[in-house]
Amino acid sequence: METKYWKVITNSDRPESLAGHSAIREAAALLKEGGIVAFPTETVYGLGADASSSGAVTSVFRAKGRPSDNPLIVHIADLDRLERWTREVPEKGVELARRYWPGPLTLILPHRGNLAPQVTAGLSTVGIRIPSHPVALALLRESGLPVAAPSANRSGKPSPTDAAHVRDDLHGRIDGILDGGTTGIGVESTVVDVTSDPPVLLRPGGITLDMLRDAVGEIRLDRGLERETMNPRSPGMKYRHYAPQGKMWVVTGEGKSLVERVQRMADGLKREGMKVGILSTEEHAANYEADWVFVCGRRSDPFSIARGLYQALRAFDEVKAEAIVAEGFPPQGVLFTVMNRLVKAAEGRVISAGES
Ligand code: TXA
Ligand code: MG
Repeated sequence: METKYWKVITNSDRPESLAGHSAIREAAALLKEGGIVAFPTETVYGLGADASSSGAVTSVFRAKGRPSDNPLIVHIADLDRLERWTREVPEKGVELARRYWPGPLTLILPHRGNLAPQVTAGLSTVGIRIPSHPVALALLRESGLPVAAPSANRSGKPSPTDAAHVRDDLHGRIDGILDGGTTGIGVESTVVDVTSDPPVLLRPGGITLDMLRDAVGEIRLDRGLERETMNPRSPGMKYRHYAPQGKMWVVTGEGKSLVERVQRMADGLKREGMKVGILSTEEHAANYEADWVFVCGRRSDPFSIARGLYQALRAFDEVKAEAIVAEGFPPQGVLFTVMNRLVKAAEGRVISAGES
């Protein structure tokens, strides 16, 4: 399959500035014909398809190599279109949408049965969001479609935060890639089930727990999520998540003891004959010695860590690191999301700097 590329550079946050742009028109036309097109959102790149077309949605699962029982998120352009696809939006759902849409929040709602059944993997609910990226919004408006879009990576790789990552994973397997530069948030949207009260956090993301609680009060953590956070050694995940080719460990702690424990761990693996990488923060990078030291962001700016995380993880696979020791973070704010992804990548191997 030939993959078409378009570059869309915009200095404006307003999707209006892209209305009628030839790249947006061509990409929208492809979607309407049942094609599959990758596009930037404020979180990560998505691989879009007409959510009302079984054929198009099936192509997405095939291109990604995604198990068909894992449902997709449907992206819409504005709130007016919500009730076309969903029923009974509970009050707390309305409030969350009012506060955080457009933005990195996905709401799980009962659907009307008028989307392709593959989108929802046969469930009675659908995940919906209005993204805030101007290219995503311009594409949604121009196509007029509900767009089903999982992250635009091959299943088992980190989500793409740059068009080059999409090309590495999906060139020749999809119809087009809209290149809108690097994404701003860098981790996926927060997924909240608002069909129950209190609402349940299914996946931490760009909208933090505090932001959710600020809007609607109590939020419960999904049981799987709780297990992953409280007892990460037995993650018990249903779907295989990204795990680097090398074996990975996450070290929690702070300051000097964290740095020392990370280095000691890396030295031990080195002695076992492995090529070792360290996933560091800017503050600590100069202290480490390893085959590779990659920086994901700055501790003084947690959002920079979310933004740089997947790029850094991809880099270890590129150099074929055999073992990776990653600095961990206190699970607060957006760093709760970062820890969630790191613990999954490490398949639950978390050690505390205090342990020997
Ligand atoms: O930021 C994002 O959410 C990105 C961009 C492209 O929008 N998309 C994304 O999609 O991360 P994906 O397919 O990689 O992740 C969708 C998540 C999965 O964890 C899936 O299980 C969950 O949303 N999900 C979707 N529909 C659901 C439903 N009806 N009930 C429960 N979980 C659902
Ligand atoms: Mg994904």
